[in-house]
Amino acid sequence: MSAPFRLQPLSEEHDRGSFACGQEALDRYIRTQATQDIRRRIAACFVAVESATGQLAAYYTIAAASIPTPDLPAEITKRLPRYPTLPAVRIGRLVVDLRFQGRGLGGALLADAVRRVLLAPPAVFALLVDAKDDQAVTFYQHHGFQAFASQPRTLFLSLATAEKTLL
Ligand SMILES: CC(C)(COP(=O)(O)OP(=O)(O)OC[C@H]1O[C@@H](n2cnc3c(N)ncnc32)[C@H](O)[C@@H]1OP(=O)(O)O)[C@@H](O)C(=O)NCCC(=O)NCCS
Repeated sequence: MSAPFRLQPLSEEHDRGSFACGQEALDRYIRTQATQDIRRRIAACFVAVESATGQLAAYYTIAAASIPTPDLPAEITKRLPRYPTLPAVRIGRLVVDLRFQGRGLGGALLADAVRRVLLAPPAVFALLVDAKDDQAVTFYQHHGFQAFASQPRTLFLSLATAEKTLL
């Protein structure tokens, strides 16, 4: 039996007109802005498509980022060289259409991001996310992300941990 969802890069063939997650800004982003961000190399965007219907069920974006090393907890940095910043990948948006929420897709998107980042040649120390609201914070904490002390809505997860817990 084929998988219920296919995860692939966003392309012209995906119909985003009916995507609805309940937050207008996130719907507008996939409809009108994601393609431009890809073209300008500001973000990469990956989507989950329902195999049976071809419907766009979810998307996420990732882009290169860096973490100022002093922002990380001492128990992590004490084992690292004293570089001023560490390489990271930021998950800009991670969104599941309302019709598909609660079926494991959010977690599957996170795992897909980890897989793609691990395959890319540049080293990445951690994933970063800017959670849009408290509910998003709890979603990421549920998956092992930890908030920065100074920015409670920005969270990180080391790739070493993500590889063990999310794949
Ligand atoms: C947050 C969101 C991505 C979750 O996606 P989802 O497909 O409904 O979640 P899943 O079904 O994959 O849930 C996976 C796990 O996370 C848990 N979870 C889901 N939402 C959660 C939340 N808000 N807080 C804590 N845990 C949550 C589930 O219980 C599940 O746990 P399990 O693996 O132990 O069974 C989705 O609700 C969404 O798109 N919301 C609107 C946009 C948004 O806020 N995006 C995040 C910031 S950009």
